[in-house]
Amino acid sequence: SDTINIALIGCGTVGGGVARVLLANADRVTQRAGRPIALRRVVVRDPSKARDALIPREIISTDIDAAIHDPNIHIVVELIGGTGLAKKVVLDALAAGKHVVTANKALLADAGAEVFEAARRADRTVCFEAAVAGGVPVIRALGESLAANQVTAIQAILNGTSNFILTSMTEHNMSYAAALAEAQRLGYAEADPTLDVDGSDAAHKLAILAQISFGVAAKPHEIARQGIDTIDAMDIRFANELGYTIKLLAEAWTSEETRTGDRGARNSGGIDTTLSGSGIHPAPAPRRAVEKAVALHVAPVLLRHTDLLAQVRGAYNAVLVYGDVVGETLYQGPGAGQMPTASSVVADLIDLGVGRAQRTFAAAKLWSREGRGFTVEPP
Ligand code: NDP
Ligand code: HSE
Repeated sequence: SDTINIALIGCGTVGGGVARVLLANADRVTQRAGRPIALRRVVVRDPSKARDALIPREIISTDIDAAIHDPNIHIVVELIGGTGLAKKVVLDALAAGKHVVTANKALLADAGAEVFEAARRADRTVCFEAAVAGGVPVIRALGESLAANQVTAIQAILNGTSNFILTSMTEHNMSYAAALAEAQRLGYAEADPTLDVDGSDAAHKLAILAQISFGVAAKPHEIARQGIDTIDAMDIRFANELGYTIKLLAEAWTSEETRTGDRGARNSGGIDTTLSGSGIHPAPAPRRAVEKAVALHVAPVLLRHTDLLAQVRGAYNAVLVYGDVVGETLYQGPGAGQMPTASSVVADLIDLGVGRAQRTFAAAKLWSREGRGFTVEPP
């Protein structure tokens, strides 16, 4: 049969959404993929937990190896998270000749080179649209639609949890702790939410965007990182009174952009000030990057209320990309949560089904250092 058989490793927030889409929207998925995509195995840690009623009980197990090595399985979807077991799942799946779909940005930021080398060796594909900006198709935009460009800068809101917390504190007077608890309840936060609020998750996603856009493999210490965990209600109130909104921005600036010395002036408001700890400090003037270097950082910044990125609310993400041919483009939408993330995972499955993902996510194209010549500027 031409059915594509899926093993879902991890069926929590995102995995549960993927199972629901595959089972509830099977006709649409079949039509888009040109053949049925069947959920054959679901692997979890605790099989006694309640799951979506559409998932047949008999396909749920705790046996990862059996799922990966099942000769009937064509695609392994890794939705466990983390960099330990998840890495083994992905590498074992590739070695077993399966394509892989993952939403795991921590893994790709940490071990992307190893994963894509394994994919290249196995002649398999690793798809990861959901790993950056949840339901917003920014990987495809950078990898396909902007192919004529050299990206010169990226300014982005990449962590839905942080943006949700900042929005809730600003608009609903919620406390930081209550807003974080709500983000966890809604399924936006990582299993360890420290990664969200200390800027690590945004840094992981920025590392992936930098790899695709500039061909650089940024090491964790090469991304200067500050989260929202030092921001309190007073910072938000003062910022608001002065006409500013606080946002956690992930930014990449190449020499092409920093040479202009006009950081942020391309959008309506501009970034005037960075915020740190207990107070507001004037932003340092953008440093002049050396030729073909890219500077990467994550930090809370003050944006004028009128700025495009200041309008991004709740768990939405937004990615402003500057291309040398196109100019400025903006990608925006739900950046976290069950169904938006499932939307991207299932799109990857459909694209594998029609044979498109094998081109879009070709390791040699997306995870290559060839031809771009950029280096990461030390922070
Ligand atoms: P969850 O914690 O909700 O789900 C994790 C799943 O993995 C659970 O089903 C859990 O089993 C299973 N699991 C954990 N350990 C094991 C193990 N040892 N053996 C078998 N199964 C195991 O995580 P999310 O769904 O939120 O996240 C999954 C991935 O998607 C992560 O990489 C995350 O960063 C990424 N992501 C998440 C987004 C979101 O909005 N939540 C958005 C974009 C990406 P059990 O159910 O039995 O506990
Ligand atoms: N915890 C992540 C966030 C999930 O809040 O953005 C999406 O990657």
